[in-house]
Amino acid sequence: RKEGFRYFMEKEIYEQPQVLADILTGRLRDEAVTLDEFPSAWLANFSSVTLCACGTSYHAALAGSYLLERLARVPAKVEIASEFRYRDPVLDPRGLFVVISQSGETADTLEALKLAKAQGLATLALCNVDNSSMVREASQTLLLRAGIEKGVASTKAFSAQVMTLWLLALYWAQSRDTLDTARRVEEIAAMRRTLDVVRVQKPVHERLHRLSKRYLHGHGFFFIGRDLFYPLALEGALKLKEISYLHAEGYPAGEMKHGPIALADAELFTIALMARSTLYDKIKSNVEELSARDATIIAISTEDFELADDLIRIRAFEHPMLEFFEMLVVVQLLAMEIAIRLGNDVDMPRNLAKSVTVE
Ligand code: M6R
Repeated sequence: RKEGFRYFMEKEIYEQPQVLADILTGRLRDEAVTLDEFPSAWLANFSSVTLCACGTSYHAALAGSYLLERLARVPAKVEIASEFRYRDPVLDPRGLFVVISQSGETADTLEALKLAKAQGLATLALCNVDNSSMVREASQTLLLRAGIEKGVASTKAFSAQVMTLWLLALYWAQSRDTLDTARRVEEIAAMRRTLDVVRVQKPVHERLHRLSKRYLHGHGFFFIGRDLFYPLALEGALKLKEISYLHAEGYPAGEMKHGPIALADAELFTIALMARSTLYDKIKSNVEELSARDATIIAISTEDFELADDLIRIRAFEHPMLEFFEMLVVVQLLAMEIAIRLGNDVDMPRNLAKSVTVE
């Protein structure tokens, strides 16, 4: 039941605080995280990690790779399952192979898991469905605790994946002793604060609803970001294209000048994820270059930015992951509002299925 929401997608966006609360339940101490599923010593055995997934889950994997390298200092690779499985890949025999999947049934991801297992690697599945094929196949499992996700466009499962990967990165960091106590305390405090951060603020939702009517046409959207905000840019663009059927691309902001800037004109809508916490001056100069070529700039930022055609102001947070979750809700709602204005059924977008069990 939609419980007063227009669509399941909307309900699921609004459920994210509860999902994150459920994920953190029983797992946070003052200075450490604990996962009952396996001891942190198990992680200390691995010399690298490969994260493999499709679609939105791939974007979570990419964000996870930044967290795992930064916090646990473990070499992390990210693979698109449909490419990985036919590439005859060279695997690190001492590495951990992680699959990420809401359904646990995506054909390419499942086959990638079987391939890694056949080569003797230890495997871990991050899945939302507890009796799924991947859960049965993998040696270890972390369930996502997101509850049933009905919207074809994944929202709360993505938040759950990113949060679970953040927990895993911190747990792994503990086993390798790569962070001092003060830093661990900081990460845990930030995790606790995410529950508030993802709570939809009515004025922000209303603003995005009003803003959406300006962006129904044009010849495309570029979502740009740097560092952790690059996977978020990919996710924002995927959300928009899935349900609005408008062309949207996610791009690392620093790459725009290597080609895509040729497209810049007033009809190119650039959604700039301008994180104060992360390389702010760098993305600012990337956006200035686009603006100088007449691109229309929609900036998501805590700061005033005079070149923005529209500024979506967000709250200021020191921690990059708080900015990440704050911006995530904005891009989810923006995609949904644009698609609803275009008259689309955002829960059942054309040509898409909730679970892709054929390759
Ligand atoms: O169930 P999975 O997480 O393995 O599904 C992977 C993709 O098919 C899925 O994320 C897809 O991209 C969604 N429609 C995204 O909103």
